[in-house]
Amino acid sequence: MIVVRMTDSFILGIESSCDETAAAVVRSGEEVISNVVASQISVHQPYGGVVPELASREHLRAIVPVVRQALADAAKNYQSIDALAVTQGPGLAGALLVGISYAKALAFALEKPLIAVNHLEGHIHAVLLEERQKGNHELRFPVLALVVSGGHTHLYLAEQRGESWSYENIGHTRDDAAGEAFDKVAKLLGLGYPGGPVIDRLAKHGDPRAVKFAPSQIKHPDRNPAFPQKTPRDGALEKELHEKQSWSSGRPRPESQAAEHPRFDFSYSGIKTAVLRYVETHALAASIAARRKALSEISKPTLEDYLAHCDQQTLDLIASFQRAMVGDLVAKTLSAARKYEIATLFVTGGVAANNELRQTFEQEAARDGLPVYFPSRPLSTDNAAMIAAAAYPKFVAKDFAAIDFSAEAGMALR
Ligand code: KG4
Ligand code: ZN
Repeated sequence: MIVVRMTDSFILGIESSCDETAAAVVRSGEEVISNVVASQISVHQPYGGVVPELASREHLRAIVPVVRQALADAAKNYQSIDALAVTQGPGLAGALLVGISYAKALAFALEKPLIAVNHLEGHIHAVLLEERQKGNHELRFPVLALVVSGGHTHLYLAEQRGESWSYENIGHTRDDAAGEAFDKVAKLLGLGYPGGPVIDRLAKHGDPRAVKFAPSQIKHPDRNPAFPQKTPRDGALEKELHEKQSWSSGRPRPESQAAEHPRFDFSYSGIKTAVLRYVETHALAASIAARRKALSEISKPTLEDYLAHCDQQTLDLIASFQRAMVGDLVAKTLSAARKYEIATLFVTGGVAANNELRQTFEQEAARDGLPVYFPSRPLSTDNAAMIAAAAYPKFVAKDFAAIDFSAEAGMALR
């Protein structure tokens, strides 16, 4: 039973930034009342990745039933919600526009406030939402958040002043995001899309020490400050990271740090190439082609199906790849946490669902006496409850979106 207080606010969140159409109702940023996610995985699977045009089309198909379902599950109707929240960016422009246009039309017709939310802030608030839901309202600052997904591998210092939150980026991927590396390696090995969950399950069956990935294969050599960037936001970050003033103005910066120029950037294109080299030098192409064909003929392959089509050498390669990825993510994040004397660590985004990543973070952070929080698995990957939760402080501050706001595919989080 839902106990409603006079001060409670119910926000309907809508998320359509990539390949999930999602809607949720969240009470006052602290309780998930409903959470509906329509996945498009089966649509994109034959292509081995998200096809933007198909994503927009699928969002158009799904958005009305998904929103209706979220309201029905919450025993709410359009009139009984207090506000709407929608993802503004970052994400696929066409996909974002579907959610935004629908949310705007609803807000206008219902005369309800509309709140624009950054998807990455949503991932961070997924952790806060679930901690509050468990009754944990104490949060020690400074907070460091690793957002690790298919599109992002970003480290943020998160601060709260009154109700409002602000973020400072202190690290980002120079090329592929961690989830992208999982997906590309899985595709390369004929395991289909999305690769992260499959690699997670198969890695347990291989020897993670079998294939050595040199640290240089997962580090950006940082030879060229004008390293080509993928988005305007990344370009801006690259510039910021090379300038002294990129460091938080409010945060004292010891001289030793100034001299060392410590960076907490990630790079995962090298390890992807290393896996490709391994495949070539060990003549795995024929077995990969056979696996790809066999798995494509099974509509929903089970773990047994994957295992039946993977030899031990491939399982060892998968386990070693995952070990290297996890080792790098954990080591860089914890070194940033030490430099900034962090009190609380959040790990969130689709890759935060990874079992080995969670276990390793828990073990290693405990050594430093650092509490680490993850969202539950359903709230690690894309969902709208996190969007409604991130909107709540903005709702309290009456920080509403103008009716003419639009999608921002490369939106920065500040
Ligand atoms: O946050 P998310 O749902 O969407 C983005 O904002 O990108 O993250 C999706 C990414 C995909 O790359 C997927 O392969 C990865 O998260 N992922 C995982 C796991 N579950 C999802 N990666 C590793 N292990 C998992 N268990
Ligand atoms: Zn996401």
